[in-house]
Amino acid sequence: MGSHVVDALLARNCEVVALDDLSGGFEDNVSPKAVFVQGSVLDCALIDRLFKEHRFEYVFHLAAYAAEGLSHFIRHFNYQNNLIGSVNLINASVLHNVKCFVFTSSTAVYGSNQLPMTEDLDRKPEDPYGISKYAVELDLRAAHGMFGLNSVVFRPHNVPGERQNTGDKCQNVLGIFMN
Ligand SMILES: NC(=O)c1ccc[n+]([C@@H]2O[C@H](COP(=O)([O-])OP(=O)(O)OC[C@H]3O[C@@H](n4cnc5c(N)ncnc54)[C@H](O)[C@@H]3O)[C@@H](O)[C@H]2O)c1
Repeated sequence: MGSHVVDALLARNCEVVALDDLSGGFEDNVSPKAVFVQGSVLDCALIDRLFKEHRFEYVFHLAAYAAEGLSHFIRHFNYQNNLIGSVNLINASVLHNVKCFVFTSSTAVYGSNQLPMTEDLDRKPEDPYGISKYAVELDLRAAHGMFGLNSVVFRPHNVPGERQNTGDKCQNVLGIFMN
């Protein structure tokens, strides 16, 4: 999805820097018109350098290891990558006065047995993946209250599409079905 966001931003004449550690994505998916940086949202020194160098106005955070079922069994990695990695970007966005932080959460924040899903449902995540997404949503609310950081949260649900990595047996519903 990140590479599609890059295309949409480029179409609006934005200058785009794309950060991805390529643990699940592919550099070829990213338009050559964007600056591509291979690195992790866990690398605070790199994040600090990028924010100082590029003075970002908007941050679109889509990096995650989105393996919901597996997240019970990779608890430390899940929280490190999906929660602490997000907090690293939120901290940098506060420090560098970013105008708006756009976060890709998930319908995993609603848990199960609440159908049909609507935005006003109670948030009752049931697995570490959903809990990490909800924790980031709450942290964004706190960062707005304390530091005025504006944010928008999206909660997609099983998005299939062009350029999707379907090779991982544990993430992306289409990939799971196909495997
Ligand atoms: N696809 C869906 O159905 C769906 C549903 C709900 C939420 N989401 C969320 O949307 C976002 C994008 O999902 P996607 O479907 O495009 O998945 P994706 O796996 O294609 O994209 C995630 C990208 O994050 C990168 N990444 C992972 N850990 C990183 C790290 N520590 N540092 C830098 N980059 C890292 C991966 O290399 C990959 O390119 C994710 O946050 C995911 O949790 C996706």
